[in-house]
Amino acid sequence: MLKSKNHGVKNLDKGKSTVLVGMQYGDEGKAKVLDAIIEGTPTESLYNGTEFSTVVRFNGGSNAGHTITKGDVKLVTHQIPSGIFYDDIDLHIGYGCVFNPIKFLEEKSGIEENGFNIDDKLRIDSQTSLVQPHHTKFDQANGGKIGTTGNGIGPAYSDIATRSLGGDLVNLTLGRYINNPHDGRLLVKKNLKRLNLEGLNLEKEVNNFHYAVMKCEQYISENEVHLLDILDSGKNIIYEGANSVLLDVKSGPEPFVTSSRTLVPAAYTGSNVPSNYHDKAIGVVKAIMSRVGNGPFVGEFGGNLSEEYCDGYENVKKTEISKYGIDKIDVNDQGIQTLLKSKDDFEVGVGLRLLGGEYGATTKRPRRIGALDLVQLKQSCRVNGIDILHINKVDCLNQFSETSFEGIPVIVGYELDGEKISYRPKETETLRRIKPVFKHLNNFTDDISNLRSYDALPKEAQGFVEFIEKYTGVKVGSIGVGPERDDIIYKI
Ligand code: GDP
Ligand code: IMO
Ligand code: MG
Repeated sequence: MLKSKNHGVKNLDKGKSTVLVGMQYGDEGKAKVLDAIIEGTPTESLYNGTEFSTVVRFNGGSNAGHTITKGDVKLVTHQIPSGIFYDDIDLHIGYGCVFNPIKFLEEKSGIEENGFNIDDKLRIDSQTSLVQPHHTKFDQANGGKIGTTGNGIGPAYSDIATRSLGGDLVNLTLGRYINNPHDGRLLVKKNLKRLNLEGLNLEKEVNNFHYAVMKCEQYISENEVHLLDILDSGKNIIYEGANSVLLDVKSGPEPFVTSSRTLVPAAYTGSNVPSNYHDKAIGVVKAIMSRVGNGPFVGEFGGNLSEEYCDGYENVKKTEISKYGIDKIDVNDQGIQTLLKSKDDFEVGVGLRLLGGEYGATTKRPRRIGALDLVQLKQSCRVNGIDILHINKVDCLNQFSETSFEGIPVIVGYELDGEKISYRPKETETLRRIKPVFKHLNNFTDDISNLRSYDALPKEAQGFVEFIEKYTGVKVGSIGVGPERDDIIYKI
């Protein structure tokens, strides 16, 4: 275990809350940035010396996949908050999350195999709802059109609102189950039986689930004021968003969203902390946008064709090229170069995906690729009250110099039915009619992944970062130049 450079305490009467969210469709590199912040590297200059004692997850569940690569260790966490590397950082799963105990145990053993232990660090709010077997089965059978991760997230959240069916509880919290395992087990079985699935070994499913829930007893916290006690003792908390703001269940393009609230204020409703302690909101961005699953994506390379193509993802590396009749090209370096040089944006998108290794951390699906949308980013910064942006994958921008594009594409305007509009509409069908207005920023060709100072960056890369700051009105705190945790350049 490592020690973070911070001690979690600031010389203030009360602690502060900082919320970190992804600004796009997920996979912006949130975990990498969060790890850097809690380790303490950028806090002095960026966060006025604010040091964190606890990382809190407030939304989502095992649909999230958060990668941290540190030296030889590459960990992908799903439900467990980032912060596992440090023995002086506590972890908390808030009741805004939905919790899958079977997946949790798998994730925990993966972490332990890598030499880290979370047993003394983790607490799970007792009111966190369980993702039961019927949720996962239902999602796997019905989530196809949306392109869900199949983790039962939507059905679990909808059962929270449904509460009971025919007098029986359909929603079960972790605390309720542990307090009365006998009844909990019966309800889980009843809920699963209601699906009438053929060939299902009901007893086995229920037993596996029961075993996993009971293993979680030691982490349960019934103390409603636990996080408040931390804050009131002068320690600071950082909240780790999952699934990102464009997938918010209410403000995202229905039905192509996740099932939780993902915006900055959800940190507080999902963790039982009032907003009085709010200090800063941090937004994480990727320089080339991506999306897994279906739904509108303004500026996607290859538009609808790319969406349809990425939907049929089985054995994707093998079929990446073949489905649309361009199978003469092998997926080798030369094949990728040919794709990048194509005049067809769809093919350029395929090339960028292969080059950037853009495949989902949870489902391994191909991520749809598109230009950085500054109209959306500016609006999302305003709606979420973002104070600092961190931009990842700036190292990948040199890939554009190998494409047929005129430069690094960014979206600086929207046209709807031939008219310019100044905002991003919310309705799914309206979003599909948006024509993006592109600006092409100057390319650079250098490999910047070994650089560690802003001044050393090519002026075109600096120009890209400063263009974003100017357009959004929000300062950029760091620039990601590679997948490793330390592949970061601090700007402020
Ligand atoms: P999260 O869900 O937002 O935490 O992000 P994911 O872990 O799902 O996906 C981010 C992917 O991008 C991971 O594979 C990271 O290792 C990788 N990554 C993060 N930052 C950078 C960067 O600056 N450059 C490159 N090339 N890869 C990055
Ligand atoms: P992180 O935290 C990328 C997407 C799914 C699908 C939609 C609904 O790693 O950034 P769900 O299983 O939530 O019902 O699926 O939301 N989705 C994500 N995409 N990163 C994520 O998490 C995601 N979480 C959900 O692909 O389109
Ligand atoms: Mg992810």
